Amino acid sequence: MYVAILDGALTALPFLRDAAGLKAGQSILINGASGAVGTAAVQFAKHFGADVTAVCSTANLDLVKSLGADETIDYKAEDFTETAESYDVVFDAVGKSSYTRCRKVLKPGGIYLTTVPTLPVLLWTLLTPLFGRTRARIVFTGLRKLPPSQRTCSSWGTWQHPDTTSQSSTGPTSWTKQSPRTPTSNRDTRRAASSSP
Ligand SMILES: NC(=O)c1ccc[n+]([C@@H]2O[C@H](COP(=O)([O-])OP(=O)(O)OC[C@H]3O[C@@H](n4cnc5c(N)ncnc54)[C@H](OP(=O)(O)O)[C@@H]3O)[C@@H](O)[C@H]2O)c1
Repeated sequence: MYVAILDGALTALPFLRDAAGLKAGQSILINGASGAVGTAAVQFAKHFGADVTAVCSTANLDLVKSLGADETIDYKAEDFTETAESYDVVFDAVGKSSYTRCRKVLKPGGIYLTTVPTLPVLLWTLLTPLFGRTRARIVFTGLRKLPPSQRTCSSWGTWQHPDTTSQSSTGPTSWTKQSPRTPTSNRDTRRAASSSP
């Protein structure tokens, strides 16, 4: 259960914050809102102040409402791509839709995001920034690089592989030991004094 919670949150956040740049007052439709990624996405979207429409099965309508969804659509009763509504963001957390079906419910400048890679969405990801009134995008959350400011290790004397950000206190011989940072607090000064011979 904890893995699902973490995986869902770690997947949903880069989609909504980084790829969509979701802001207060925007509208988002989340397809697959009752899954691990979808439930996290509903909560993040509400946290960002967006107006959330959650799409799930009949059995999970109350769940997504309890997480903060403003509107719900039961995909067993209604096709969300055929509604009169339009959204700034359509986030398909379960990859059951397509950009071509969803673009008609996107506002001008809106973005379609999906968690599941398909050839069409990979092509739309390349083409829509050049030609589209709306955009499509897939994100691979496990392959994200940390920004340079977060790649160095700030803790005391830990090990860091030159090519990665992985850390270990017993790293292999090819790993380099990080230089201790300059003591900046009384605690650091005491720690430095106790570790010197
Ligand atoms: N791109 C990435 O980096 C990345 C990272 C992690 C996961 N993923 C992918 O994201 C997908 C979702 O992962 P997850 O962990 O959230 O899965 P999950 O927990 O199994 O949830 C899937 C949800 O989809 C709903 N669903 C099934 N059929 C549907 C339909 N036709 N329309 C709308 N909703 C439907 C189900 O809800 P109901 O019971 O309400 O139908 C279920 O709760 C997976 O395919 C996974 O491979 C991608």
